Formats: sequence, structure tokens, C-alpha cells
Amino acid sequence: MTRPEHPVAIVTGGARGIGAAVAARLAREGHAVAVLDLDEQAAADTAAAISAAGGTALAVRCDIADEAAVTAATDQVVAALGPPTVLVNNAGAGPAAGITEMTVEQWDHVLGINLRGHFLVTRAVVGHLVAAGWGRIVTISSISAHGDDGRSHYSSAKAGLIGFTRSLALELGPHGVTVNAIAPGFIVSDMTAASAQRLGRTFEEHQRIAAESIPVGRVGRPEDIAHTASYLVSPEAGFVTGQVIHVAGGPVG
Ligand code: NAI
Repeated sequence: MTRPEHPVAIVTGGARGIGAAVAARLAREGHAVAVLDLDEQAAADTAAAISAAGGTALAVRCDIADEAAVTAATDQVVAALGPPTVLVNNAGAGPAAGITEMTVEQWDHVLGINLRGHFLVTRAVVGHLVAAGWGRIVTISSISAHGDDGRSHYSSAKAGLIGFTRSLALELGPHGVTVNAIAPGFIVSDMTAASAQRLGRTFEEHQRIAAESIPVGRVGRPEDIAHTASYLVSPEAGFVTGQVIHVAGGPVG
């Protein structure tokens, strides 16, 4: 099967940062994009910007860790835009907590968003990809999958996404669906701005310090991830599946 002429893409956490850059890029490339996010107003603003630029976008409020909300949101996307063939599992949150002070609630919250949530959304939409006989799933992991001081919950979830990706590549390959992960390094976004604040640095200082240990000598931008996602969802990437692509300005792992 080949890609539908007007593919529908879902981008979770698409309201800001990496997700917003991916949503805008996929819209520019002819996808009708559903921006699913916890933050309804920011999702609406992102969708409006895509529409103003001539694209098609729909903002849908959704907590991806909530099974009923995921069902309702994906049903809304199908009714408004049609069945999706592209899913970008991007929503995430990564607050810091050392292991001795980490509560069970913090652990469950972070795993709920960064691992369980991606399972829930994927399960809700995968039937449409299989029915089309063509699909692309791209999940945003992280270099934190290799270890992250003070964020063992986040690191565990991001490592789990690699197993999730590889397993689904095996399961869905026969149905024309590729499944890959992107593991970003330091990307300028609200998430890294929050890390700067936690460390008592200005964001500029935080970026400068991070860039010193990155071989290409700079931090990443959301567009760096959008470029890679654009390739992975393209028809040309049909022989690439079960891979984790590090987009981190240097080798990782
Ligand atoms: P961000 O904080 O700027 O954006 C995350 C988006 O996800 C927000 O719009 C937020 O509202 C949404 N979100 C959070 N929880 C949600 C939930 N339960 N349901 C629906 N939406 C939810 O973060 P950023 O940097 O754009 O991160 C995007 C992805 O990239 C995340 O998965 C993050 O873990 C990953 N990542 C980011 C890196 C970075 O340096 N910024 C590095 C490696 C991975």
C-alpha cells in the first residue's frame, strides 16, 4: 500500500516545543495535523498558527495518561480529519527527583505520561494504520534513556520506549507500518528552561554550558527533531524501522 494522498497525523504534546515544530513541519508537508495536548489554549494557538500558514490543524485537549480521554480525543480526530496514518508520540514531562525522596506518586506520574500514555495513544490509533496498510509511528525517547542523574523515573520511561518501539516494529512491519524512535539531546524548550531554573542558572548560561560538552558545539532546536521526524514519516523511510536515532550533536550511548 502507499501513503494516502492527504495523510492525517497526530502529534501528542504538540502545543509547544518539539511537538509544535513537528506539527508545523508535517502540516507544511501536506498532513492534516491533530495537536493533542494537556494545555488546551497552547494547543489552540499552535493549531491557529498552522492554519494561518495555510495548513490544516485541529487542537484537541487530551491527557495522554488518561485512557478515557485518549479514546475521546482520538475519536474526535477521526470524526474531524479522518483516520490517521501517522502518529508522533511526543508528549512528555521530566521533573527531577532523587531516588530517596521520590514518592510513588511522582514515579507513577512520570511513567504515566512518558510510557503508559504512549501505549494508550498508540493502541487507540494503530488499528487505523493497519487498516490503511500504511503507517508511521515515531516516538520521542531521549538520551536520558542511557542514564540521567536525579531522574531515574524519566530515564526508565525513556528506556522503556525503546523496547516499545522495537517490539512494535516487529509486530507492525507485516502491516506496512514502521515504528521508530528519536532520542534527542539538549533541545531548547520549556523543558530545558525549567532545568536551568532548577540549577539556578539563566537559560542562556545553561545552554552555553551544555554546548561545551556537545561535539558539534551547539545545543539543539525543536526544528532539528522536526527534520528527523519528517524523514521517518516519509514514504522514502519505508525500509527503516525499529531504530533509535540519536539527534544530539554527537554520538551517544
Ligand atoms: P515541552 O515541555 O516544551 O513540551 C511538552 C508538551 O507536552 C507540552 O505542550 C505539554 O503540555 C505536553 N504534555 C505534558 N504532559 C502531557 C500529557 N499528560 N498529555 C498531553 N500532553 C502533555 O517539552 P519538549 O522539550 O518539547 O519535549 C518534547 C518531548 O521531547 C518530550 O517527550 C521530552 O521528554 C522529549 N525530550 C526533550 C528534550 C529536550 O532537551 N527538550 C531532550 C530529550 C527528549
